[in-house]
Amino acid sequence: MDMRIRPRRLRYGEMLRKMVRETRVDPSSLIYPIFVKEGTGIVEEIPTMPGQYRYSVDTMEKKLEELLDAGVSSVMFFGIPDHKDEVGSGAYAQDGIVQKAVARARREFPEMYLITDVCMCEYTSHGHCGVLCGHDVNNDETLKLLAKTALSHVQAGADMVAPSDMMDGRVAAIRDMLDANGHINTPIMSYAVKYASAFYGPFRDAAGSAPSFGDRKSYQMDYHNSREGIKEALLDVQEGADIIMVKPAMSYLDMVTKIKETVQVPVAAYSVSGEYAMIKAGAKLGYIDEEKIICETAASAFRAGCDIYLTYYAQEIAQYIQDGKIG
Ligand code: PBG
Repeated sequence: MDMRIRPRRLRYGEMLRKMVRETRVDPSSLIYPIFVKEGTGIVEEIPTMPGQYRYSVDTMEKKLEELLDAGVSSVMFFGIPDHKDEVGSGAYAQDGIVQKAVARARREFPEMYLITDVCMCEYTSHGHCGVLCGHDVNNDETLKLLAKTALSHVQAGADMVAPSDMMDGRVAAIRDMLDANGHINTPIMSYAVKYASAFYGPFRDAAGSAPSFGDRKSYQMDYHNSREGIKEALLDVQEGADIIMVKPAMSYLDMVTKIKETVQVPVAAYSVSGEYAMIKAGAKLGYIDEEKIICETAASAFRAGCDIYLTYYAQEIAQYIQDGKIG
């Protein structure tokens, strides 16, 4: 056989395969999303996300320790308040749940990098991501509250804020507010390319944040669209976003690649609750090998081009990196 080029040559043996590997996975690129709620001694499993829990601020500490031990030092906080109202006042309360959790984590874990999700849907009685005007979310009124929320998180000790509401102009509003208060060096990671997705279903169970009427399609993007995602990303960079996120990850890796080619800032991909739930469910039924699927999905997100990966499997991935199963 006259064949000089044999791609298989580079596939013999783990050592060589690792040498020529194009994508490396490192625990410093992982962010773990954590749910915190009011109360003490709470470790409540989320029914649609087996293996994920709602923590009170005291039990959260143990989880943060576990994460650090596994090599994950970045977390993103989601708050589940006791009380919700029309204007989501729990989102920007000085003693709100995220503010308390971040303050405690800041004090107890100075080596951790603390990011907060900035949105209103967990805090509003109607479950929408902003304040309402009739049945519509009032964009410009919501901006003021988002900016106030972001500032309160930073004042509590957050290192970075991540707006996920999809209102127009929120990055600029948050940047102005942080700068006016002296937080010129606090980065904003914008959920810029965020689609209206059924993959958020389990999260909404976890946070009790499903909209009580309608859906989020007037602010989150239509999943048929790609150029619109580029427009959102470019706008947010102009407004001062330091990192651009694509969400969900698995069904949107084309967008990760496109955004990576378009913007000059780091790109994050968020493997959301529905992605986690599908893998868990498939594994529970014995249809797939959970560990192998976790490694493969994580590597594929990085291969698509993300620099940062948000995932409920962060601790497992960090462990697999340590064990040499991925990386
Ligand atoms: C808040 C927010 C959501 C998620 C992150 N931030 C829910 C939503 O937009 O409905 C989803 C995360 C996940 O599904 O894991 N707006």
